[in-house]
Amino acid sequence: MKSKKKSPARKRIRIGIVGTGGMANCHASEFLKIPGVELAAVCDVDAKRAGEFAAKHGGLAAVFTDFKKLLLEGGVDAVSNVTPDSLHAPLSLQAIAAGKHILCEKPLATNHTDALRMARAAKKAGVINMVNFSYRNSSAIQTAAQLVREGKLGEIVHVEASYLQSWLSSQIWGDWKTTPAWLWRLSSKHGSKGVLGDVGVHILDFATFPVGKIKSINTRLKTFSNLKGKRMGEYPLDANDSALMQVEYANGALGVIHTTRWATGHANSLFLRVHGTKGALRLDLDKSYNELEICLGKDIHKANWKTINASQTPSIYERFITAVRTGKQGEPDFARGAEIQKALDACFESDRIGRAVRL
Ligand SMILES: NC(=O)c1ccc[n+]([C@@H]2O[C@H](COP(=O)([O-])OP(=O)(O)OC[C@H]3O[C@@H](n4cnc5c(N)ncnc54)[C@H](O)[C@@H]3O)[C@@H](O)[C@H]2O)c1
Repeated sequence: MKSKKKSPARKRIRIGIVGTGGMANCHASEFLKIPGVELAAVCDVDAKRAGEFAAKHGGLAAVFTDFKKLLLEGGVDAVSNVTPDSLHAPLSLQAIAAGKHILCEKPLATNHTDALRMARAAKKAGVINMVNFSYRNSSAIQTAAQLVREGKLGEIVHVEASYLQSWLSSQIWGDWKTTPAWLWRLSSKHGSKGVLGDVGVHILDFATFPVGKIKSINTRLKTFSNLKGKRMGEYPLDANDSALMQVEYANGALGVIHTTRWATGHANSLFLRVHGTKGALRLDLDKSYNELEICLGKDIHKANWKTINASQTPSIYERFITAVRTGKQGEPDFARGAEIQKALDACFESDRIGRAVRL
């Protein structure tokens, strides 16, 4: 008699989403594109928002306002934690304790100690754990990492990376002064680590995934509070909104990494340039997620650049579901999230003491 057991590739997976704000829409629609994945439960402290979210994404999910109840009664295999940054550690730890696989938004936590605790708890519980460094979804960065790994660029010497936004100087994403999702990002009281914690995590991942670990980091943070005023209702506007990092990699390369919410003229731009002794590569995600430019071989003597098209790469949502179905941990995992969190903590320490900090 044939077994009725489904192959891992088609196994039904029931997802629960906690935090049904802006980014959760992306989680829901990306998960629902994957055959066999169901949105079984959603949770938000704002009941109306959670209800509308469930209706918008298929209308089948059970709606909760208490995450503990979702874990007990929601019948989910895995949880996506899309709450504000300060809730990543406590809610993810609850999900892990309940034996749920977990995809957590970035930054993994608000400090390295908590991030390590999460990584260890997930490992001990044997659950799949991934952190949403979403720009790994670019096939160009995957190919960049492969080229460096294969030694095509020779020894890496110089790196330049930036993540530029302008929502403080423009209305590109609406009026930040009246939007809670922007206001909590400006307030350390609400757990924000500023632009560094919000998108600095992405650019640190982007600049180290292909090149390798950072050995030391010298950081200057700034909050242009005179321009913004110091408070908006319950939100003190004190979190950094510009960050400059000078880094030395473990392989000896030097790098400049920077990010700001004041890059007027840019909505959400990521750039990376990696220069080695035998070649170079550059990425501009405004132009393409799948193309990168390379200068290799004889071309380096004429500074000739060629554009190459990288093949598609599965999204983090697809990689997470594959990991849950196969039981094989996917990347980037909580350990990687904790590694980046260590660099973030070092940035704050470096800014405080005014010199480089070793990691
Ligand atoms: N990976 C990416 O590219 C990317 C992009 C955007 C946002 N994010 C991350 O996603 C997270 C959410 O960002 P957002 O812009 O959607 O914020 P948001 O403010 O729009 O949504 C957060 C939601 O969480 C809810 N919430 C707060 N406390 C809760 C609790 N205890 N239980 C349940 N729900 C609770 C809020 O009511 C809100 O609906 C942040 O950590 C952010 O850094 C990641």
